[in-house]
Amino acid sequence: MKNIVILISGRGSNMEAIVRACAAEGWNAGIAAVISNRPDAAGLNFAKSRGITTAVVDHKAFADRTDFDAELGRVVGSFAPDLIVLAGFMRILSSDFVKRFEGRIVNVHPSLLPSFTGLHTHRRAIEAGCKLAGVTVHFVTAELDHGPIIAQATVPVLPGDTEATLSARVLAREHVIYPRAVHWIVDGVLRVENGVVTHTGGEPQLFS
Ligand code: GAR
Repeated sequence: MKNIVILISGRGSNMEAIVRACAAEGWNAGIAAVISNRPDAAGLNFAKSRGITTAVVDHKAFADRTDFDAELGRVVGSFAPDLIVLAGFMRILSSDFVKRFEGRIVNVHPSLLPSFTGLHTHRRAIEAGCKLAGVTVHFVTAELDHGPIIAQATVPVLPGDTEATLSARVLAREHVIYPRAVHWIVDGVLRVENGVVTHTGGEPQLFS
């Protein structure tokens, strides 16, 4: 039984998709805790309603990133995580934190990485005239929005799209591929070689 700790900052819809899939598909895993850096994160309510332990490590209570990350590391570590799932967690993690849990942190990012790291991915994709957008699930390394790619899903950018319409189209795919990718990790079916992730059973890692 693997221990999953999920970090959120807000709405938590990806966390919700993972919690639901874990229960519905009978993963060999449990959600040990949902942790937020914001006390008012809406996702905390869903986690509580499912009887999941929640915790808040409020970044505003710390003088700098080093102090915040030290406390976050202490709280996360107290749940003995096999896997740390960043689900809309909007803080940059220090290299010390990443090193401590190396290979055990995954993230979802709303772009086709390595394009559009950072913020405002949908607006930037529309402004760049992209015809294709999407979402990436990847292992976390010390470099922001980089790291071995586990799965990607693509969506079209349609004429007249706004940030809101494109992000809604992408989010619907996030809710499909993120639980799938986390399930793969729980089942130990991924191999990482030279920064490239392969599903050992040959399942497609590209979704449309
Ligand atoms: C999601 O779209 C996720 O991809 C994005 O924040 C949103 C969180 O939604 N994450 C990032 O931008 C991380 N760089 P949620 O709280 O409903 O899961």
